Amino acid sequence: MYEAPYPPYDPVDTSGFSYQTVVKRWPVILTGIIDTIYRTNHDLSLSSDPDMSKLGDVSAVDQETRERIEEGKRLIEKLSKLKYEMGRDRPLEAVPDDGEPLVKVYNDELEKLSSQGKGTWFTAPWLYAECYLYRFLRAYFSRTKYWRTFDPFRGQKESTFQASGTAIYQLATTMHELEAEKSALISDPDKLVIIFREMIQMCLWGNATDLSLLTHMSHSDIQDLQTVGKDAQAARKEFILKDDQERVWDHIKTLSPDSRVDFVLDNAGFELFTDFVFADFLVTYTPYVSRVVFHPKIIPWFVSDVTPTDFKQTFASLLSPAFFPSSPTASSKPSPSQQHLHAMVLRWQSYLENGIFALSVPLDTPLGGDVTVGTNGQKNVVVNLEKNGVNEASFWTGPWPYWDMKELAPELWTTLSESGLVIFKGDLNYRKLTGDIKWPVSTPFEIAVGPLAGSFPLLSLRTNKADVAVGVPQAVADELDKKGEKWRVSGKYALVSFIPKGSQA
Ligand code: F6P
Ligand code: MG
Repeated sequence: MYEAPYPPYDPVDTSGFSYQTVVKRWPVILTGIIDTIYRTNHDLSLSSDPDMSKLGDVSAVDQETRERIEEGKRLIEKLSKLKYEMGRDRPLEAVPDDGEPLVKVYNDELEKLSSQGKGTWFTAPWLYAECYLYRFLRAYFSRTKYWRTFDPFRGQKESTFQASGTAIYQLATTMHELEAEKSALISDPDKLVIIFREMIQMCLWGNATDLSLLTHMSHSDIQDLQTVGKDAQAARKEFILKDDQERVWDHIKTLSPDSRVDFVLDNAGFELFTDFVFADFLVTYTPYVSRVVFHPKIIPWFVSDVTPTDFKQTFASLLSPAFFPSSPTASSKPSPSQQHLHAMVLRWQSYLENGIFALSVPLDTPLGGDVTVGTNGQKNVVVNLEKNGVNEASFWTGPWPYWDMKELAPELWTTLSESGLVIFKGDLNYRKLTGDIKWPVSTPFEIAVGPLAGSFPLLSLRTNKADVAVGVPQAVADELDKKGEKWRVSGKYALVSFIPKGSQA
């Protein structure tokens, strides 16, 4: 297995960002889960007792609901204990065998870390401890009778999505206006490249915490593509500290028309919407791509990541006129932007039906499920893969860097090696690509991704929300540090990093 020449980030340094996450962010996340279960339990007792006359009297509710509520209470107890232990830097416990993927993988690594004196919340490498947290939490839910399909972050994902209506309608109208330009675009590579830049940046900033850098393209912008494209590009350029956009475009132009692009997804809601828009652009407006495959997480992951359920639900949400509270639902006639959104999502839905868009696992894959690929190429949903090794989807929720994908998940590696371009979205994917290592900032990206470099054309679109960063000139980093910019973690800066297939570090 690949060993990096520098150590990983860990929370031992109390002035570091990872320490802040462990101390502040994780307890908030656990408290949020506890509140969610508490509220769900409360709603369960109300639904069986609508006039609230027997509130608190669980004997009044039916047997199944009672058991569900009791299980919920036990989950709350466990979560409270976990929060207490985490705050006191207690040892990480082995992940219980819940029959879902990667139990042994997590526990073998934990054993190794413990033997090195790094088996507690604050001493384990940050990347391991954070992935472990979500896998360990999953085992609380997967071992219940009534809460095994419960995603404790689902409500949060949905309400954040609902708050992004304005940007969604704006992008839908942009895409609608683009339709009028379609024939001109396809035949004019100079125009197409401008739209490509707008699209890739929109998809990039969809991962930001600060959405103010999101691309805006008005109707007149499209009329005057080149000038405005250049200006907008220049304005945002200072925030993209490594910018391989042109290299990516040069690569895409070499793809044969039947090529496939893969998205290793990050967050549900608005970010996923921008992924769909970019994917739509690639298949609808360029002659180079005919299929896009999206790779989700199979367990609730880093709060906001896309699960198969989120993926499926996104279409229904976007097609529901009442989903965005800001939408002008009062009038019976849909607004033009509502019509634009509706038409676009119907197109995406037809792409999904025709296999132009596809999820890497069946749409109804339950939490904790994965797939094996049959001899006929048919994907079969299976749970309990432990004995069969790491399958296609569970690799993304492992604790490892992506360096050794070829050895750890050979099926997945083979699938991706047939792709025309694999796009890794977001911060955590970047941390895993680079191993979350304390690389000198000027280290080439090809070096930091270790033996994965060259396996397939690889593009990372990442806004910076954690310390690790490579491919940035030392002088640029020094200048930002001098100005006191929190450029590594604020979400305001970004990296667009590309490695072609066959490239050797
Ligand atoms: O705030 C830090 C953090 O939770 C990191 O652990 C993680 O890398 C990131 O946020 C998640 O961001 P993203 O959704 O872009 O992967
Ligand atoms: Mg995420």
